[in-house]
Amino acid sequence: MLRVEDLCVDFGTGHGRVRAVDSVNLVVPRGAIVGLVGESGSGKSTVARTIVGMQAASSGRIFIGDTDVLAKHRVSRRERAERVQMIFQDPYSSLNPRMRVGESIDEVLATYGGLSSAQRRDSVAELLQLVTLSPETAALFPQQISGGMRQRVAIARCLAARPRLIVADEITSALDVSVQGVILNLLRDLQNKLELSVLFISHNLAAVRYISESIAVMQRGRIVEFGTADDISLRPSHPYTRALIDALPRLDDAGRDVLLSRPS
Ligand SMILES: Nc1ncnc2c1ncn2[C@@H]1O[C@H](COP(=O)(O)OP(=O)(O)OP(=O)(O)O)[C@@H](O)[C@H]1O
Ligand SMILES: [Mg+2]
Repeated sequence: MLRVEDLCVDFGTGHGRVRAVDSVNLVVPRGAIVGLVGESGSGKSTVARTIVGMQAASSGRIFIGDTDVLAKHRVSRRERAERVQMIFQDPYSSLNPRMRVGESIDEVLATYGGLSSAQRRDSVAELLQLVTLSPETAALFPQQISGGMRQRVAIARCLAARPRLIVADEITSALDVSVQGVILNLLRDLQNKLELSVLFISHNLAAVRYISESIAVMQRGRIVEFGTADDISLRPSHPYTRALIDALPRLDDAGRDVLLSRPS
């Protein structure tokens, strides 16, 4: 579904050019969740922003489906939106505080759906149900609901565009640990139900391991290791991956992160 080939992204700074993303190769198969983990500043968000078209690439290719979205022929906003949607750490960045939850979702449906207003009303209710929110939530403003609910609204809004690929960048990092698990489970349920392909980005290896089938480890702009979730967590080969694993709370420690227990 997603194939990133030899992607490089450079930033010009006062001290010259900085290569934030260095020859990155990455594949997310159809209907799979692939994790991308790495420390702050390793280039994860830059990869994400380049995939969704918010950041220009210096070189490389990004295939979404069969189309190289970096190639010269322009892809329309609508086409791109149906291909790929991004969910961010802070749902405030994708939700307008002056719009009710229902209006925010309806706005996307109106742009991409070609539906009547009655059909859109039904779709808003369906989308809210999909993210396990009651239809009444549609009447509320973002600041009237909890952070976890806001993130669910952001997910519903992103699903309204009917994307085949979702790039989720640190979507649980601003949430309470208890709510993090709920959002991860929701994302996995949706991915199953809708056969979505997901690139799940986090600096938190526990969260990445919980949700991903395979994991890419990123350090200083490069992918240093790629493998199944079990290979990465049980048999890491790169010293940086080992350091990430050592930094995780121990299973037998009190107050351990709930995310560490993998569901059956
Ligand atoms: N617009 C920009 N201009 C210049 N440098 C940038 C820009 N955006 C990112 N960078 C630099 O690129 C590098 C990678 O940043 P990026 O945000 O992709 O990292 P990250 O892995 O997402 O980090 P975090 O875990 O903190 O979100 C960093 O050194 C950052 O300072
Ligand atoms: Mg980031």
